[in-house]
Order: sequence, then structure tokens, then C-alpha cells
Amino acid sequence: MSFRKDFLWGAATASFQIEGAWNEDGKSPSIWDVFCEEPGRIEDGSDGKIACDHYHHYKEDVKLMAELGLKAYRFSIAWPRVIPDGCGAVNEKGLEFYSNLVDELLKYNITPFVTLYHWDLPYVLQSKGGWLNPEISDWFEEYTRAVVAKFGDRVKNYITFNEPSVFLGCGHISASHAPGFKYGTRELLLAGHNVHVAHGKAVRAIRELAPDAKVGITLATMPRIPNGDMDAATAYDIYFSCHKPYFIWSDSYWADPIVFGKYPEDLVNECKDIFPKVTDEDMKLISQKIDFIGENIYQGRYEDGYNRPRGTPHTEIGWDTYDRALEWGVKHFTKRFGLPIYITENGISCHDWESLDGKVHDPNRIDFLHRYLRGLKAAAEDGCDVRGYFQWSFMDNFEWAKGYNPRFGMVFCDYNTLKRIPKDSAYWYKEVIETNGENL
Ligand code: NOJ
Repeated sequence: MSFRKDFLWGAATASFQIEGAWNEDGKSPSIWDVFCEEPGRIEDGSDGKIACDHYHHYKEDVKLMAELGLKAYRFSIAWPRVIPDGCGAVNEKGLEFYSNLVDELLKYNITPFVTLYHWDLPYVLQSKGGWLNPEISDWFEEYTRAVVAKFGDRVKNYITFNEPSVFLGCGHISASHAPGFKYGTRELLLAGHNVHVAHGKAVRAIRELAPDAKVGITLATMPRIPNGDMDAATAYDIYFSCHKPYFIWSDSYWADPIVFGKYPEDLVNECKDIFPKVTDEDMKLISQKIDFIGENIYQGRYEDGYNRPRGTPHTEIGWDTYDRALEWGVKHFTKRFGLPIYITENGISCHDWESLDGKVHDPNRIDFLHRYLRGLKAAAEDGCDVRGYFQWSFMDNFEWAKGYNPRFGMVFCDYNTLKRIPKDSAYWYKEVIETNGENL
């Protein structure tokens, strides 16, 4: 079998990266609003104050999604819009925006996938310790309850966290992302555990308020790809090994506690003296059944990854390309976790601009997607349970510390006029959707 008949072809975005309206309708600043104000943090000195102004253009954007044939749309909710103080009073106006967005999507038969946390923590909570404060799991549960109480009747797919490795790794080790800290291993382990417990409490809340909804988590993954002397089994073992000091980047650090109910043993042994206290109650919460795992895949790794031949293709943002990354990401995850999988992000940043003919020609993106999707198809043909694919991104947007220079969109955004132009690849992707991938 190739792609299943009900395969969900979609695209993804995240609140801070596209919405703008940074201080409207009661929204409080997020850690990213504050981070952008610190000189030197963002490569082009930009911020998310306007971004693509999706907050005011959402109807036009959803209409475009429908025209381009999308079956699903993954977006995130900004916690500081919903609960500006981080915990406590719910801001109905903030919820209203997402409620209207959901209705608009459903009007066109586009299935909404909601990510609860895509990095824009209310700044007030950072002042209380952010992910280091164990109370954060209660605050996250409260926020989740507000969201699911509002949308549970209409939104049936939830992702608790987007790429916890990245918001802890870049935000709390390398300081290249908000909040810009450099934690030691002890603090990281604690923050990681708090994220796990927060995930568990959110799953519990979703089950209670929307029992028919599906819930999962999205991980950033860079699969090891067998090649040369490395067979699939060795690639698998290396891929899922989990040690100090790089544990935060390991998929088994994130998914093993959720799926198997325990942290990777090697890591626990290496960090015996500094591992946070983990109770049975915590582990029960963390390991509640989830319905799917989301994988964000842009790159892979070969064992000889650091010796790639001169001239190896790489993207505008400087990432090497790996045609078989989706294939092996899915195969390895299927072998280890046995859960349904969504590719919740995959895409490429290119040097896109509006040509003299008024169009945006992006042949590299078409070729990149074609190659990667062939790999995904191979995994599906191999029997892996892949349910959907979300291209990153629906439109060009704020690429975190890199600002607006990288363009990952299937739709071009002119940041001066806010005009949207579907790129050539968007029409190509439309055909992929129409043929359910048979043209790949
Ligand atoms: C993963 C993140 O989830 C998303 O926010 C980011 O823009 C893309 N990768 C591209 O770097």
C-alpha cells in the first residue's frame, strides 16, 4: 500500500511566527517578544510584532489553503493570548480569534491540528522561573483546559509540545533562542522533567474534556540513515542512544518516558546524583497512552556525516539535504514506538523572491520535496503507519533567531505589503495532494 486513502496532506505554522498583533485584544508579551527586544538576539534585528499579520488576514489565508487543496492545517495557540497572566483569568477575546480560525477551517473542510505549545511562553511565567518551576505543569494544565473547553467540540487533534529538545536546547543551553539561558545539566534535567509532567497533565485534561480527540507530541528528529558500512540496526541503536551531555537532543529522552514509562537507563545511571526526583505518580501521568507521534524532519545524519563530499546540496539556511530522512525517521520510529506517525513538519528554506512575471519560482523546493516525499512513500509502502504530512510552512514567516531572511513557505509573503503569492511549489504540492502522492 502507498499512502492511505485518508492520508492528511497539510501545512503547518506557529503563532509567534505568523500572527503579529503582539499586543492586541489583551495579549501579554511572550518570552519571544522580550527576547527580540534584546540587541543582537535576532540576526536581522526583527521581531514578531507584525510578522505576516495573520491575526488580521486569517480569512484570506484559510481561503488560500483551500484553493491549494490542503486537507489539514497545523497551527499553534499563543498561551499569552489565552491566559495573559500565565495562570488565572481566561481572555475570551484571545480564544475568540482561534475559535473563528477553527470555524473558518471547518467551513472549507480543512482538519485543524492544534499545537498547544510552540515556544511562546507568557513572559510573566518566565519571571516565576519558567520551565524550572515545577508549578509550570499546573499552569500548563490550566491553559490546556481553557483551550480544550473552548474547542473540544470542533478540534479533534492536539499536539502538546512542539520540539521540546529545541526550546530547551536552544533556549536553555546555547542561549540562541528565548529565554536565552545557559543551564547546566542538573537544571536541564529538571526543566525536561517539568515538560514531561506538563505533557502528562495536558493529556489527562484533553482525555477528560474531549474524550474522542487524538493527542500526541511532536519531536525534532534527525534520523540516522544507513549507508556504506552502517546497517539499519546499527543506525537505529546510535539514533536512540541517550547520554550526558547531549541527552536533550535525543528522541528517546523525550519519547521513552511517554511510551515505555521510563527515562533511558544509561542517562539515569550517568546522572544518578543530579537526576530530579521522579515519583510513580509522575511516571503514570507521563506515560498515559498517546495516539500518535509527530516528527519534524529536515535533516538526517550519516555515520560519516562530518565528511560529506564537497559540494553536497544544502539549503539557503545552510542545512544539508538528506533524501531518505523521512523514510528512516518513520522506519526507526515505527520500530521503536509502534505508534501512528504524522510528519508534523518538513520543508526547505530557499532564496525565493517575486520574479518579473509576478510569480515566485522555487524549483529547488519542488525537487527537495519530491525526493523527501518519495522516501516517505517508501516507508508507507513498507507498512509503516503514516497518517499525514504537514509541510513547513504554509507561508514564509519569522524564523526565530534568523528573523525573516529564511523563507520556508509554500506561499510567499511580502513583508512590506503583506501580499501573499503561492510559489510554484504550492501548485506542484496541490497535484501531489490530488493524486494522493501517486505522481511522486
Ligand atoms: C522547527 C520549528 O518547529 C519551526 O518553528 C521552525 O520554523 C522550523 N523548524 C524551521 O526551522
